[in-house]
Amino acid sequence: MSTTESDARQPGSATDARVVGETARRRTFAVISHPDAGKSTLTEALALHAEVIDSAGAVHGKSGRKGVTSDWMEMERARGISVSSAVLQFAYRDCVINLLDTPGHGDFSEDTYRVLAAVDAAVMLLDAAKGLEPQTLKLFDVCRSRGVPIVTFVNKWDRPGREALELLDEVEQTIGLRPMPLTWPLGIAGQFKGLIERTTGEYTAFTRAAGGATKATAHVVDAETIAAQEPEYWQNAQDELGLLDEIGAGFDEEGFRSGKATPVLFGSALSNIGVARLLDSLVDLAPPPAPRPDVKGDDRPLEAPTSGLIFKVQAGMDKAHRDRMAFLRICSGRFERGMVLTHAATGKPFATKYAQSVFGAERKTVEEAFPGDIVGLVNATALRPGDTLYAADPVEFPSIPAFAPEHFAVIRAKDAGKYKQFRKGIEQLGNEAVIQILRSDLRGDQAPVLAAVGPLQFDVVTTRLETEFNAPVTLDRLPYQIARLVDPEAVEALAGQSECEVLRRASDGEHLALFTNKWRMDIIQRKFPDMRFEAMPAGS
Ligand code: G4P
Repeated sequence: MSTTESDARQPGSATDARVVGETARRRTFAVISHPDAGKSTLTEALALHAEVIDSAGAVHGKSGRKGVTSDWMEMERARGISVSSAVLQFAYRDCVINLLDTPGHGDFSEDTYRVLAAVDAAVMLLDAAKGLEPQTLKLFDVCRSRGVPIVTFVNKWDRPGREALELLDEVEQTIGLRPMPLTWPLGIAGQFKGLIERTTGEYTAFTRAAGGATKATAHVVDAETIAAQEPEYWQNAQDELGLLDEIGAGFDEEGFRSGKATPVLFGSALSNIGVARLLDSLVDLAPPPAPRPDVKGDDRPLEAPTSGLIFKVQAGMDKAHRDRMAFLRICSGRFERGMVLTHAATGKPFATKYAQSVFGAERKTVEEAFPGDIVGLVNATALRPGDTLYAADPVEFPSIPAFAPEHFAVIRAKDAGKYKQFRKGIEQLGNEAVIQILRSDLRGDQAPVLAAVGPLQFDVVTTRLETEFNAPVTLDRLPYQIARLVDPEAVEALAGQSECEVLRRASDGEHLALFTNKWRMDIIQRKFPDMRFEAMPAGS
């Protein structure tokens, strides 16, 4: 039965009830980890469990695997890094899971930050041998600042690693997150036998399949049998479980949802151990989408008319069409393809005729979506990350802050005859927020300044300008390292100061003062004591 938008606006309508019911079934999350911890492997394993794809490698492109969405760029393939983010949606039990991929490399932390603005939970993936690594820590900080609840998955338990208790201790001591193990491993990392369910004591043994297959098979074994088979490991595990009970590491829902505690699971993404348990935990414990606060701090009720936040814009996903897709996270109401939404930034209508979901290489038309779902809007040239779209009742969600750039370079078209393509490319990459574009009267339009959080962003820009826009460029690095937000008056006031320059950011019109180092910035601040130098969120 189809319901209309006007029905959606009637409080207590059938659509309201449906929106509330469908929202409760959504789990929207991302995996955060340090490169090589196994994020791609886990993503594949999760999707395989949900029986959405039938061969590992259909989701992510890494060397030797069948690549799709996340290796849409040659550069990704060449370097084995994931620049772009894919969105996977699949059914598991009675829930709809939306898994948002995040780029692993620190240079793309702005992109990750935007993705984390669109999730309701995160899985923090740790390598059992390495524990908390630098990139994990940074991403954890972003989750904490956004109040995103975290489930921890200790991966690679099939090979030698650290002690389980030691890893938990590191999590608690380093980031102050109280670990609450839901399962406990039998056997040390590398000599892994199976998992004990903490609340029930049920033991599941995992056996590697014969013939070199990596996937393990699971079967429940009764306690007496395993205690007789593995007396030493069993006794150890029982002692450790006793210790955990003593220190009160039981599951505390309030602690989890408020970001103070984390459920912990052990397993191996590669061997498919503990992956179903992870999905079960997300379904049972992770919060469904909640009403999202708008710029005024008022919550937009879930059953309010349709609204959503653009958290990512990506071009070139479909090489044949060179199109551009804006990813909309639905925040309230029922989305129906074809509905006309209002773009809060401009007040202009936006028709959603071309709404798609992206799963690996496959795209499907999305007919309807609910809070927590991600809709890909094709050729949405006017939309930028951080923008709000809404139906009926106007709303604007807080924009996603731009990170403090720390690397700067002047970019010019190599060939003056290609200036038109160059200009178009720069504008588009700026709109996609691939990099920040800074301009000043002094430098002119022909030589804008690129401002990056990480230097790999420069490579993305130059490669894309060359391949997508047919505009080869030259890049000259500038000696600046620090940027601060300043008032427009600073353009004139600071003109002539050495090792300092003020430029305007194309995306939001903010003025940025660039300095070669902190020492120089402090000197200039002392010269202009009334001038406000405002720091931006740090991305690295
Ligand atoms: P990333 O996306 O976080 O960067 O990590 P990715 O999944 O690519 O995994 C990094 C490496 O770790 C891969 O090996 C992968 O096979 C391995 N790995 C992931 N999960 C597990 C696990 O549970 N157990 C073990 N033993 N290894 C795991 P690689 O040799 O670098 O790459 P590949 O050639 O296998 O793709």
